[in-house]
Amino acid sequence: MKTQLEGIMNQARELIAKAADIEALNELRVRFLGKKGEITSILRGMGGLSPEERPVLGKLVNELRDQVELLIEEKLTELKLGNKARRLKEETLDVTLPGRVRQVGHLHLLTQVMNEIKEIFLGMGFEIVEGPEVELDYYNFEALNIPKDHPARDMQDTFYIDTEVLLRTHTSPVQARVYEARVPQIPLRILAPGKVYRCDDDATHSPMFQQVEGFVIDRQISLADLKGTLLAFARQMFGQEREIRLRPGFFPFTEPSAEVDVSCMMCGGKGCRTCSHTGWLEILGSGLVHPRVLEMAGYDPEQVSGFAFGMGVERIAMLKYGVDDLRLFFENDLRFLRQF
Ligand code: PHE
Repeated sequence: MKTQLEGIMNQARELIAKAADIEALNELRVRFLGKKGEITSILRGMGGLSPEERPVLGKLVNELRDQVELLIEEKLTELKLGNKARRLKEETLDVTLPGRVRQVGHLHLLTQVMNEIKEIFLGMGFEIVEGPEVELDYYNFEALNIPKDHPARDMQDTFYIDTEVLLRTHTSPVQARVYEARVPQIPLRILAPGKVYRCDDDATHSPMFQQVEGFVIDRQISLADLKGTLLAFARQMFGQEREIRLRPGFFPFTEPSAEVDVSCMMCGGKGCRTCSHTGWLEILGSGLVHPRVLEMAGYDPEQVSGFAFGMGVERIAMLKYGVDDLRLFFENDLRFLRQF
């Protein structure tokens, strides 16, 4: 019996020493110490021994079990340390590698320019009001002195929804809506930004674009107020050296009407390709609010007057940032958008 125990001990010692990994070691633990393991089985088989032999052998088997347990624990520690050492060697952390940069988005250039325009006019005491993009023919045309079938409607190629409903072709209908809601209140200093729609599509025209309408109604408003306001705007937007000029124009809802040019920011007014060698760039349409429009609104044109202007936001952005094709704004190519 004693030799049998020694045999088990030697075998256990040898196998444990050779165990290559923790899994193999666990198998040995089961083989020797498990419920049906070799050592446990000997203890079970002791029933047939004499009362004198039993405690002697029992002691020997317990010693054997403790020794095997100890060997397994020692080997386990050794294998764990080995794993850790190997991991430390393999998993090297290279602190010189570049970090993972999270991409941060930003506002679309048109939104940035729109915000800039709003800031400038808010600074001059304007109030921001918005109107619907799906508009009634009445506000888009009739209340602005453009009767049905009037040739002035040809100035703006219109998306009609039905005979009375359309996509607004400009932000001027917000004038008519504000007059209707506020007359006879004065002064009004309103800025109306938003999307407008025209049946147009090429390098300088998009079926959807954005405008900012501005208008002021008060006593004794004149072209001087219009010019001073727009000069202040042009200088804040394009630089303090800018000048503006007013050229005669025509809009059915203003009288007189003026196209407004700003001195070219590319060449400083000397003449270059951008300004077609004129030194000037057109930025908006404007005028004094037509007496007929004031009258329809319910104001007395003898008592109050006003100026109004409308500018295209894409055009302002193209001039300020040197963008040469309007379509770039809407293609959403990140290589373009990321530049601003
Ligand atoms: N609504 C005009 C347009 O879109 C611009 C404008 C606005 C002109 C206000 C005069 C006054 O062409």
